Amino acid sequence: MSVDHYYTLGRSGLRVSRLALGTMTFGTDWGWGSEEKEAWAIFDRYLEAGGNFLDTADGYTGGNSERMLGKFVRESGTRDRMVIASKFTFNDASAGGRPNPNSGGNQRKNVLRAVEGSLKRLGTDYIDLYLLHAWDQVTPPEEVMRTFDDLVRSGKVRHAGFSNVPAWYAARAQTLAELRGWEPSVALQLEYSLVERNIEREYTALAQQLGMGIMVWSPLASGLLSGKYKAGKDGAGRLQAMKDSANPAFQKFTERNWKIVAALEQAAQQTGRSMAQVALNWVANRPGVASVIVGATKLSQLDDNLGALDFQLPRELADRLDAVSAPEQQYPYYFFGAELQGMVHGGASVGDKPAGYHQPVRISGAGAH
Ligand SMILES: NC(=O)c1ccc[n+]([C@@H]2O[C@H](COP(=O)([O-])OP(=O)(O)OC[C@H]3O[C@@H](n4cnc5c(N)ncnc54)[C@H](OP(=O)(O)O)[C@@H]3O)[C@@H](O)[C@H]2O)c1
Repeated sequence: MSVDHYYTLGRSGLRVSRLALGTMTFGTDWGWGSEEKEAWAIFDRYLEAGGNFLDTADGYTGGNSERMLGKFVRESGTRDRMVIASKFTFNDASAGGRPNPNSGGNQRKNVLRAVEGSLKRLGTDYIDLYLLHAWDQVTPPEEVMRTFDDLVRSGKVRHAGFSNVPAWYAARAQTLAELRGWEPSVALQLEYSLVERNIEREYTALAQQLGMGIMVWSPLASGLLSGKYKAGKDGAGRLQAMKDSANPAFQKFTERNWKIVAALEQAAQQTGRSMAQVALNWVANRPGVASVIVGATKLSQLDDNLGALDFQLPRELADRLDAVSAPEQQYPYYFFGAELQGMVHGGASVGDKPAGYHQPVRISGAGAH
């Protein structure tokens, strides 16, 4: 497998690279990204490797991520070849004056405002994949899906998707879209890595059953899984810069995670690969995963990460990594594990199906099957 091996995204015909390029680090506005020159080099290298899938959002680095990305795509003359994903939801405080509750959220008014801003910053007249960035707790799914449908019909957007939403909300929205003939969601962008496997309880099945390809964000847990941080020592990078942040996504220095990092280090030594490559390879091969969004602040990091697909992790090492990072058993998921399911099926195995037929979904934290 390589970056120029394209997969169809979810239940769509859109072909995307198994490694997407994340651009949340394009720009230094947040204190941990790269200057334009380095970002250009990163973009160029991704292009040269055959990558076609680019991820940004309206608010990344105060809009500079979209601006830079738009410029690079324009100047490289690759708009037709590239699949650009962007997102809306977070409030745009740049308008100044009074805070405006309608310049954030997933309601039609904000989505139609946000899409114009993204198109302008990107300097394009369409976005290939437009994602709802986070659940806002108020907008009904009908309003979101009908707005997506309007955007696709208007030609401003090619496909739609979700990020950071409750599974029940995405399932209801998708079912309504199917029922009413609206544009469906084809992607689910979620945090997933060896240290963050909670999505396996609900979202893997959601993605597989309802035709959404999982796009993985923070596959290296913001750099933790590259191995450059050591317990009790200061390191250089985003996690160090954000160690006092209240955002849980940056709180990765825990006892449990250090154990996973140690197992990953061993696996990397045994395969002769870097820790980042092994961590990316592991997540890229998980069920339901369509594409892994890699991030890099330096060209050397991207070079390392681009080597993550061309090898197979030996079964025994993958099993060891699975075991050390396994999510804990939780209610009600243990009802779907071997013990309680054994009380359901009268001795038959749930997996008794001829090859080629739909196999049952495995749920993490359900106990052994
Ligand atoms: N939908 C969402 O809510 C959401 C949230 C977050 C991200 N995203 C998307 O996902 C993309 C990737 O997320 P992420 O940046 O958090 O991914 P990540 O792979 O977990 O972290 C990337 C960071 O780790 C460090 N790094 C990467 N490769 C390395 C290597 N080989 N050796 C050493 N350090 C390395 C770099 O940071 P330092 O140099 O600073 O250490 C790099 O910026 C983002 O750009 C964005 O497009 C989406």
